Amino acid sequence: MTVSAGGCPVRKLVPPDERSGPPVERIGGPDGERWVFRSFELVRSVLREESAFHQAGFGADGLRRASMRPPILYLEGPAHRAQRRGARLFTPKITEGYRPMVEDLAERLVGRLRSDRATDLTTLSLRMAVEVAARVVGLTNSSIPAMTRRLDTFFDGDPLASRWTPRTTIKLLRTHSATFRFYWLDVKPAIRARRRHPDRTDDVISQLVERDFTDLEILTECLTYGAAGMVTTREFITVAAWHLLDDPALLARFRAGDRQDRLAIVNEALRLEPVVGHLLRRADRTVTLPGPDGPIAVAAGDLVDLDIRAANTDAATIGEAPLELRPDRSLPRAVPATVLSFGDGNHRCPGAPIAIMETEIFLSSLFARDVVATGPPRVRWNPVTLGYDLDQFDLRLAPPETSQV
Ligand code: HEM
Repeated sequence: MTVSAGGCPVRKLVPPDERSGPPVERIGGPDGERWVFRSFELVRSVLREESAFHQAGFGADGLRRASMRPPILYLEGPAHRAQRRGARLFTPKITEGYRPMVEDLAERLVGRLRSDRATDLTTLSLRMAVEVAARVVGLTNSSIPAMTRRLDTFFDGDPLASRWTPRTTIKLLRTHSATFRFYWLDVKPAIRARRRHPDRTDDVISQLVERDFTDLEILTECLTYGAAGMVTTREFITVAAWHLLDDPALLARFRAGDRQDRLAIVNEALRLEPVVGHLLRRADRTVTLPGPDGPIAVAAGDLVDLDIRAANTDAATIGEAPLELRPDRSLPRAVPATVLSFGDGNHRCPGAPIAIMETEIFLSSLFARDVVATGPPRVRWNPVTLGYDLDQFDLRLAPPETSQV
């Protein structure tokens, strides 16, 4: 366990070449110059300037060249607002309605842990995230375990790999084949079922069918929800479990606390270890922003790299010891406990309430048992989310005679 001098656990995940300052920087790179913003206030002001910037991350440039309606993450203005209607499916009240289903699922998945063999927690957390997001999106007409495997292959490939090597080609073919099977075996049956029952409106696919989206547009929207909601939640559950397993005092507090205490711990874990490490935006017009040392003029066409990892640990907003996991920290009003881990402004993550609920429920089921990790998870850095990917996190139930629960 890595702890501060005061005994608090600190950030675990740091990419090898990360720079933590200055708050504003203009740097050159292989694709030209870019701004890097690391101050919380500045990053949030860009995310809230929706009329001045558009999406430049998650492969946006390649997608813009395609002749189809882009998915929600890449839209702006009225088209984006129309698409956000689907996001109403994630209100706190509707999210709360999923609780019994999520509790039941968490118990079933955690019930697979054994004392005589290790189970990779990330396969359980991915299955949890896929099943919950699939319900919200409307991918409910096919086998969930098979769909999880197809999506895992899709997200394991790097669809944006630009350098040809035999390995990237094989990966690309596997990704394309997984996409095709996902369309044919998961998305298409869901579309067919909704065309037969056009009165349904309680999931994303129903709403897209009602608005006459083509099959290809629905497929890309489903893949966007998959990438935005499934893999991210897997990382969130895993990183929070890792912090808890690595720190007996934090784990004891999690077990003894009520739901609010547990939520404070998982939210603070996500602030400290944001799954999406950077967001990228490109300026549509010249815009002047309030920088920490005076106004900053961003010109039309400039690329802006919003360093969420740095903004979430900006001492000016977060307060003292920003790299420590302190569930009791008090943040300024209007700054959520997860700070910018779910973004801000018009693209703020609509799935945040469900991801938080799901994580708290899964970890409550997990830590109702006495579990031990055989080692830390494997850590890789993802070029698309500009954040981390965790896998191979092996857990076992403690043998009954050593059990402390
Ligand atoms: C811990 C889990 C999650 C994290 C860390 C996360 C993070 C984010 C972030 C940072 C954005 C903003 C992207 C930007 O501004 O460019 C975003 C957008 C989005 N998220 Fe999440 N997300 C999570 C879970 C979910 C879930 C469970 C769903 C749905 C099932 C979801 C669906 C979406 C969608 C559809 C968008 C695009 C919204 C828009 O463009 O208007 N996310 N997410």
